[in-house]
Amino acid sequence: MSEVKFFYGGNVPLEMHKVRIVQKLNLIPIEQRLAAMTAAGNNTFLLKNRDVFMDMLTDSGVNAMSDKQLSAMMESDDSYAGSETFYKLENKINEIFGKKYFLPAHQGRACENMLSKVYIKQGDIVPMNYHFTTTKAHIVLNGGKVEEIIIDEGLKIESDYPFKGNMDVSKLKDLIKTHGAEKIAFVRFEAGTNLIGGQPISLQNMEEVYEVCKSNDIMVVLDASLLADNLYFMKTREDCCKNKSIREITRAMSDLSDIIYFSGRKLGCARGGGICTNREDVYMKLRELVTLYEGFLTYGGMSVREIEAMTVGIEETMDMDMISQGPQFIKYMADELIKKGVPVVIPAGGLGCHVNAMDFLSHIPQNQYPAGALAAALYIVSGVRGMERGTLSEQRDENGNETYANMELLRLAVPRRVFTLSQINYAIDRIAWLYENRKLIGGLTFVDEPKLLRFFFGKLVTVSNWQADLVEKFKKDFGDSL
Ligand code: F0G
Repeated sequence: MSEVKFFYGGNVPLEMHKVRIVQKLNLIPIEQRLAAMTAAGNNTFLLKNRDVFMDMLTDSGVNAMSDKQLSAMMESDDSYAGSETFYKLENKINEIFGKKYFLPAHQGRACENMLSKVYIKQGDIVPMNYHFTTTKAHIVLNGGKVEEIIIDEGLKIESDYPFKGNMDVSKLKDLIKTHGAEKIAFVRFEAGTNLIGGQPISLQNMEEVYEVCKSNDIMVVLDASLLADNLYFMKTREDCCKNKSIREITRAMSDLSDIIYFSGRKLGCARGGGICTNREDVYMKLRELVTLYEGFLTYGGMSVREIEAMTVGIEETMDMDMISQGPQFIKYMADELIKKGVPVVIPAGGLGCHVNAMDFLSHIPQNQYPAGALAAALYIVSGVRGMERGTLSEQRDENGNETYANMELLRLAVPRRVFTLSQINYAIDRIAWLYENRKLIGGLTFVDEPKLLRFFFGKLVTVSNWQADLVEKFKKDFGDSL
């Protein structure tokens, strides 16, 4: 994708696909956007999609499908047991990951539920580079504890370290020494580490961790939901991967993992998920849970159409043109925002562009949710829906006190092959305007705060009348423009 040079220079990511099915978008006037945000309790999860112009909430289940995926969906074999469609996916997983057993599930968190139920005993710990919300919830629900052992560089918002998702091997050794290997249920690696800005892990780090785990008889579990982005970064940033094909890198990662699970809403641009392994004991333990919670072993809660799309989508993930698009658009967005002074996570990662709300809104204290306030403000001034990834996404502790997040981020996901560059330029323009006017933005406070997963359902109000001031300034600067 990046091999094409422009005569007039510039670093423009060039799409290696064309758009053949479109969906009409609405950009409603700012007064209506303010009303929609108020009705949604300043929580972007509670907006109606009809009121959203660019949906940058997530890359989950909203990636564009290819013509080949759509045509494969027409050929699906619908049967409760023994569907031909399932065997196609099983063969593809076997071919690409070299894993013999495949267990289907309805999505990524279902895999986490089953793995936690089988492998976590009360008091166990699960070291990982970094947690994902649903992963941690399942581990804790089963009596386990997450130990984050990401390298120190991983939590620096601005860094030039190419693999900020890496695990600190010495911290892993210390945990084994302190708790004993038998207390460690498994070690979990998350490719394209979501909550720290879609940051990759390196193959070398995987090798080092695997060696420590093998010598202590500990299983390595790879969350491959964001594998596509991670593969792109390994190929472009890691010396030992330069001469390897994407297929070879994938296989090398797989050989360093006892169990791989993924959300098919991200990996393979479909919907669903699954777990693969070469270990018969793992397969035998998990398969009962598949039939109990998901569905029979040859569909696992997925529709056969989605399974067909997933099979093709995973094959397409082996294509550098396909996996470059997201990271290159994200880098373009981050670079343009940096030029305008907007603080973002660097190096730009996968999944989306992550704006650093802690700096953007340094006048808003963490207990007034700067990243949530920024998400609300951006929607009002642009119709762009992002996702808060900061303190609001955390849970209060046992005493009801806030658990302040390490980072206050506004995630602007870039679903694969969905947006055009002019739409990305529009988002950049409105974010830059908001940055110029950042002092107008104020904090938020809960009026309805659920105990569990408050970021999904909670409702908030503004601490002052700042949103009206923001609308007024917008009208002054943009006149009648939407
Ligand atoms: N693991 C990672 C790294 C994820 O990013 C997600 C989902 C899951 C597991 C769970 O998968 O949604 O299919 O159940 N991430 C979505 C997001 C929700 O918006 O980042 P799921």
